[in-house]
Amino acid sequence: MIQTLRGTKDIYGAEIYYWQHLEQVARQLLQQRSYREIRTPILEMTELFARGIGETTDIVNKEMYTFLTKGEESVTLRPEGTAGVVRAYIQHKLYGGVQRLWYMGAMFRYERPQKGRQRQFHQLGVELLGSSDPRADAEVIALAYTILQTLGLKDLVVSLNSVGDSTDRDQYRQALVDYFTPYRADLDPDSQQRLDRNPLRILDSKDPKTQAICQSAPNILDYLAQPSRQRFERVQCLLEDLGVQYKLDPRLVRGLDYYTHTAFEIQSQDLGAQSAVCGGGRYDRLVAELGGPDTPAVGWAMGLERLILLLESQQTITPPAPDFYIVSRGEKAEGYALLVWQRLCQAQVRVELDLTGAKFDKQLKRADQSGAKAAIILGDSEVENGTLQVKWLGEGRQETMTVEQLLNLTLS
Ligand code: HAM
Repeated sequence: MIQTLRGTKDIYGAEIYYWQHLEQVARQLLQQRSYREIRTPILEMTELFARGIGETTDIVNKEMYTFLTKGEESVTLRPEGTAGVVRAYIQHKLYGGVQRLWYMGAMFRYERPQKGRQRQFHQLGVELLGSSDPRADAEVIALAYTILQTLGLKDLVVSLNSVGDSTDRDQYRQALVDYFTPYRADLDPDSQQRLDRNPLRILDSKDPKTQAICQSAPNILDYLAQPSRQRFERVQCLLEDLGVQYKLDPRLVRGLDYYTHTAFEIQSQDLGAQSAVCGGGRYDRLVAELGGPDTPAVGWAMGLERLILLLESQQTITPPAPDFYIVSRGEKAEGYALLVWQRLCQAQVRVELDLTGAKFDKQLKRADQSGAKAAIILGDSEVENGTLQVKWLGEGRQETMTVEQLLNLTLS
């Protein structure tokens, strides 16, 4: 039997209603705040991600689905959305003023699958391009917070940090190298490599021994120059004004290299190891690095599978049921049923037509299971009289009427 690939899954049945609910809530809040949707290709040139996300990140080094096309071009299934949005921003010259963009779609990372971590997963993301105002940081973080709150999710923690500008970070990087070098032999093998290539990443290590060494590592906040520090304080004040509760986490470095100043994550205690439902921050250098004009930007992405796990554990969504379920038997009645179905559809009534041609009692059983308010029963005599038998399923009451009478009843 051919099955889904490891780390990918079908989304169907009752779960789909959680997805639709989530998408509906998000769309409404995004529209309200004047964010416009953008859909970029899933497949992009490998160079976009290598340059955009950073050559020394785990995503680019270990997790990308990269292959050569028949024309020998190296292409990659997008592991995240920001690089593609920035490419589109530059390609279509969406410059001038502020662009508020959002996207939703599948992303691919070749990771070890576990609960809340897949190889094909979905993100909802926003990117606000063209503003360096700390209010932009506050706006996008508050937006993420509101989406999660509106979904009714509980026990969320916003972790906030600043990774400064490139000068701050160069100094901090050196301080980390100085600190970790004497411990080199005690670090896990990945972190030993990171010490040479990208020492900030060591703070992200999951290895207990490395984590213990990280406890006393230098704190990024001590390496922020005055303007970066002031900016970070302003973001914090604005978040407080907006009622967003957060905690400072100087170890938060994120898994992508493009961040400057604000970095944040939203975690849920209910998710176990893969606790981050949302991650993002400011990336003031990325547009220029990918060949566009100097453009400050800030954004985030949420992992939808993780949100769905939380939604399913915290609330129940009942699948929508049809208003009417049409059962019919016999060639003439079946043709008539199709016309009744069309008339009800045109009147915007929710309706399901039984196509099995099975015995009436079997069809009526399915009508019950469908959750419909009433079954419309059509046999030869209904065809002759141009009427319907309407059986109200909750009460068992049955009555004869025309389609128009039924519509008057439902619409009144
Ligand atoms: P990220 O932290 O790599 O950031 O991913 C954002 C979110 O995607 C994570 O918090 C998590 O919920 C979800 N996620 C990541 N990997 C997986 C996976 N393998 N399985 C399930 N969910 C996953 C970014 O991708 C940035 N582009 C966010 C951003 C936008 N920064 C600025 N703008």
